[in-house]
Amino acid sequence: MFRRRRPNEPPLDKGYIPWLGYALDFRDNSAEFLKRMQKKHGDIFTVHIGGQYFTFLMDPLSFGSIVKEARSKLDFSKFAQALVARVFSYRGLPGDHKHVQASSTKHLMGDGLVVMTQAMMENLQNLMLHGVGSGESGRTWKQDGLFKFSYNIVFRAGYLALFGNESVKQAGSIEKAKETDRLLSEELFHEFRKYDCLFPRLAYAVLPPKEKLEAERLKRHFWNKLSVKKCMFKENISGWISDQQQFRNENGMEAYMQDRFMFLLLWASQGNTGPSCFWLLLHLMKNQEAMKAVREEIDDVIRLSGQKVKPGGELLNLTRDMLLKTPVLDSAVEETLRLTTAPILIRAALEDMNLKMADGQEYGIRKGDRVALFPYLGVHMDPEVHPEPHVFKYNRFLNAEGSKKVDFYKNGKKVKYFSMPWGAGTTICPGRFFAVNELKQYVFLMLTYFEFELLNPQEAIPPIDQKRWGFGSMQPIHDIQFRYRLRF
Ligand code: HEM
Repeated sequence: MFRRRRPNEPPLDKGYIPWLGYALDFRDNSAEFLKRMQKKHGDIFTVHIGGQYFTFLMDPLSFGSIVKEARSKLDFSKFAQALVARVFSYRGLPGDHKHVQASSTKHLMGDGLVVMTQAMMENLQNLMLHGVGSGESGRTWKQDGLFKFSYNIVFRAGYLALFGNESVKQAGSIEKAKETDRLLSEELFHEFRKYDCLFPRLAYAVLPPKEKLEAERLKRHFWNKLSVKKCMFKENISGWISDQQQFRNENGMEAYMQDRFMFLLLWASQGNTGPSCFWLLLHLMKNQEAMKAVREEIDDVIRLSGQKVKPGGELLNLTRDMLLKTPVLDSAVEETLRLTTAPILIRAALEDMNLKMADGQEYGIRKGDRVALFPYLGVHMDPEVHPEPHVFKYNRFLNAEGSKKVDFYKNGKKVKYFSMPWGAGTTICPGRFFAVNELKQYVFLMLTYFEFELLNPQEAIPPIDQKRWGFGSMQPIHDIQFRYRLRF
């Protein structure tokens, strides 16, 4: 209430409501609010949000001063722990974060990713190619919402690939086990979406009592479904999940708390990829030139692997190696993420410190304050770094000769953090390579096996839901109908 700006500090804006400051503006539409503040104060400012002071830094050339600062000065864990306790009722171990990062490096990157690609592929094929039928019955059009369809398929396949399949022995046969996988993952997705919709208000602690009860019910549902006890009966559990369980077991964590952690992992691994798959496919469908370029690349990669997808033939064996030969699709993925992911990176100042901007100016930050980046506004939508930032340009991240483009400039200076869908620094998303793989696998399968089109090709791309800024992949405010059928 009585805070005054000191001479070396960023502009201070306390808002107009005592104690709340700008909490309501921030919660209702963070991007709009921050845009307003940037216009009013420039590239660095301190705002009061619900009892806490946040310094936002909007100049992408200066992002490094936060991302690379030592953890002894800027710490992420306090904020993350409080959020995780509120949203997932999980209280972690001291080595939690380090262990997640290490086991992700082992199982979701490099050689580990070869195994995960295979698992994801088998589960995608079980879900996508079952029930569509082949021959004449498969050629009848089916209609669905593109968001619902994409999220459903990618969530379920990702969940099965990471958390494991029904045991064949238990089910009696491979076919029965696959059927159980389809049914149980469908149920899980149905409940997950309910939690997903409550999530932003749960994170801001503004759910009304009835919905609070519903969130509690859903949490218990997931703790039960994903429990370590139930997990023991599964097959093909990924090393990523079994490592996490082993680590917590060995460190004496009680089973009920481990179950809660499993739900956190489900959330982190499945809450973003499905929505991103939707945006990617939709942008390709709305942009014929992009679709043509991606289709040609995919056809080439399949041909060069010596495979031919034909009626009644072998299913496509899409390997990690093949997924490394797609610069055009890579660029389309990166462009989709630039347009539709909007995390907010938050760190707590553990001591009084100075933040140095790229232009040499230094600003004082007080111990206990938060510093934050919102790269969506700070760099993804900066017209100097990305000309016509609202336009989907599938080749924005490609050089003229076809290699990956990494040179982007502002004020004549190279911008290191030109796109940040995964966050950055110590908290960078450890699942990012697996996630990109999932996106590419989904597009490969859709383009290889299906014909699909928007029901109304003139329909505009639905706007982004403004209530979800800050949580990763954005979602549309409404779905868009499409129809699909097997190609042969
Ligand atoms: C398009 C898909 C995805 C996006 C956009 C995304 C984005 C992010 C972001 C922005 C963060 C937080 C970074 C920060 O606080 O600075 C994060 C954290 C995390 N992500 Fe992802 N993610 C995606 C997919 C995945 C997948 C597929 C997995 C695992 C299989 C995963 C696992 C995690 C985990 C475990 C964390 C927490 C890391 C920690 O606390 O150290 N993510 N992700």
